[in-house]
Amino acid sequence: MTSLQTAVPTHRVDGREKVTGSARYAAEYHVPDLLHAWPVVSDIAAGRVTDVDTEAVESVPGVIRVWWHGNAPHLIDVGQPMLAVLQSAEVHFRGEIVALVVATSPEIAREAAGLLTISTVERAHDVILDPDNPDIRTPETVNAGYAGVSERGDPDAAFADCAVQLDVTYGTPAEHNNPMEPHATTAVYSGGDLTLYDSNQGGHPVRHFIAGALGLPPERVRVISAHVGGGFGSKGLPRPNVMLAAMAAVELGRPVRVVLTRQHQFSLVGYRTPTIQRIKLGADLDGRLRSIDHDAVVQTSRHVEFVEQVVTATRMMYAADHRRTRHRVLDLDVPIPSWLRAPGECPGMFALESAMDELAVAAGLDPIELRIRNEPAADPELGIDFSSRNLVGCLRRGAELFRWRERDSRPGVRRQGRWQIGTGVASSTYPGYASPATASATRTVTGDYVVSINATDIGTGARTAMLVLAAEALEVDHSRVEILIGDSDLPRAGVAGGSAGTTSWGWAVHKACRELVDRLAERGGPESLTEDLTVTASTAADLKAREELSRYAFGAQFVEAWVDADTGEVRVPRMVGVFAAGRIVNPRTARSQLIGGMTMGLSMALHEQSLMDPTFGDYANHDLAGYHIASCADVGTIEVEWLDERDTRINPLGTKGIGEIGIVGTAAAVANAVYHATGVRVRNLPITIEDLLRAQV
Ligand code: MOS
Repeated sequence: MTSLQTAVPTHRVDGREKVTGSARYAAEYHVPDLLHAWPVVSDIAAGRVTDVDTEAVESVPGVIRVWWHGNAPHLIDVGQPMLAVLQSAEVHFRGEIVALVVATSPEIAREAAGLLTISTVERAHDVILDPDNPDIRTPETVNAGYAGVSERGDPDAAFADCAVQLDVTYGTPAEHNNPMEPHATTAVYSGGDLTLYDSNQGGHPVRHFIAGALGLPPERVRVISAHVGGGFGSKGLPRPNVMLAAMAAVELGRPVRVVLTRQHQFSLVGYRTPTIQRIKLGADLDGRLRSIDHDAVVQTSRHVEFVEQVVTATRMMYAADHRRTRHRVLDLDVPIPSWLRAPGECPGMFALESAMDELAVAAGLDPIELRIRNEPAADPELGIDFSSRNLVGCLRRGAELFRWRERDSRPGVRRQGRWQIGTGVASSTYPGYASPATASATRTVTGDYVVSINATDIGTGARTAMLVLAAEALEVDHSRVEILIGDSDLPRAGVAGGSAGTTSWGWAVHKACRELVDRLAERGGPESLTEDLTVTASTAADLKAREELSRYAFGAQFVEAWVDADTGEVRVPRMVGVFAAGRIVNPRTARSQLIGGMTMGLSMALHEQSLMDPTFGDYANHDLAGYHIASCADVGTIEVEWLDERDTRINPLGTKGIGEIGIVGTAAAVANAVYHATGVRVRNLPITIEDLLRAQV
């Protein structure tokens, strides 16, 4: 296939629908006779529900049903405890669903929910990630199947011998997914068929688990997710909203809608664990690393284990003969942590890339030069080739764009009025994952093409990217191709996660389209068709047959930070990101993805943190008034570029994925710039006014 970069940016094919409001999201489908369900959540962090007095509520006009574990329909165990809603008396965390009120309007359901009397027996809870807690354990494996611990050589002895030593601890707070569209489902059950209009990152897992829990044949469950307003990982698996809507619709024989509120989102759809990360770097005087040791402590819910893979990027970033990377985890009575954009790489690279900056200072080296000196020839831990690795190219091009050379390496010397000005750099990386997918391509007798795959466009532009790849493989103009996605009746495909959507789906789309072209040629060309011709192709075997390689995208993040010397206020007027992410399928939407990731990284650096209230046993800031995210006024100029990287070994498309790499390293670049501006090293995110003022007195 051709690996030419698309020269012309392609507009979103669904852009008009979105800006005119005709694009339908899960809670916007008009269905007659619709009921609305309101989840009621626990106000204890651990214990049991002993009784729910439903009487006062059932007499409210418009209330149809009140369920709690004492009377809720039975759900079949599908191995997803978060879907076992209302199945047990146990309360595993504050904010867990303990009752559901179904009514004729959302207002009635909400009002009635407020009248419920829920009796509970509380037990003592533990919700604090204390690195000295003796119950901290070392997990065998962590998220995405990585080993909990990895060790090469003798990192302790090597470190002890090093001329330059760094031993520091970093922290990142809990952070919550806040997609613009909350989790929502409209469930319609009719004649034994269940249709779920649902906001998710992949419809097939939703169909699988919901059909399983309700004992329905999967083919009788259809999941439609035509448009999704963001997920960032929180919609990668079905959440209680779809389980409850489906259960209620089947049980009541009427359509039911469940829309989680912003407040619900903070306990029911996952979040990023807080992390405590100790890094020891040992280097020679010339900055060459000899020993790398990265230890991360994270939390999981006692109820469902999720251990974020915080140190895995440290396993492949830099050369060093002696290395240890280790996860440790503490089981707590907290809501279930989960995926949040670049789980693992994002918090891990904050620590590693801050530490590399500190090492550069300690060794008296330019931080870009330090990274170049530690560039490995092959994967430093596995000893296998990278499919391609252009970190150095990103650092060099970024330095040029950012005018890095104008920098005085001394911290705290550049000043303009009250503003202390600094610049910082950090590396970025994200794995080039792919998952098996199936697509079909049809040539109609009327001369058009229809390409179908159950991909999900969560706002990334996936629908448009599939169109670009299909038209290219079919060798026809975009206008002759229709793309069908977001429906579980379409050929099976994996989730929009792990930055693998475009690669996984595009690979199948490409394959189906090329096979269609071949079949048409065998039959004497498209003009001789007498009926529609459809070809279906799967990439499952292709994925199994791939050569063993380390597959990663790379990037370089540059930040200019201004710190008010009197108030400690931090502004970031300028960011530059340069990425080597393989083939960029559609420059217009790719740029948005990367800018979005960098904005989220800025937000992580300066704003985002979920604060645990140890008494109540839950995060206290449960909405966007208390949980701060970067607004437009916080974001200055963001420049994004990518290298024209042609990776012929990674997969047939040459793509590496761009959904997550933009957030990785950004927070470190901000912290490094703040250090350069002020001389104050902030090792715990977010960087606050208090951190900077405290350091000045
Ligand atoms: Mo992403 S956190 O893999 O949806």
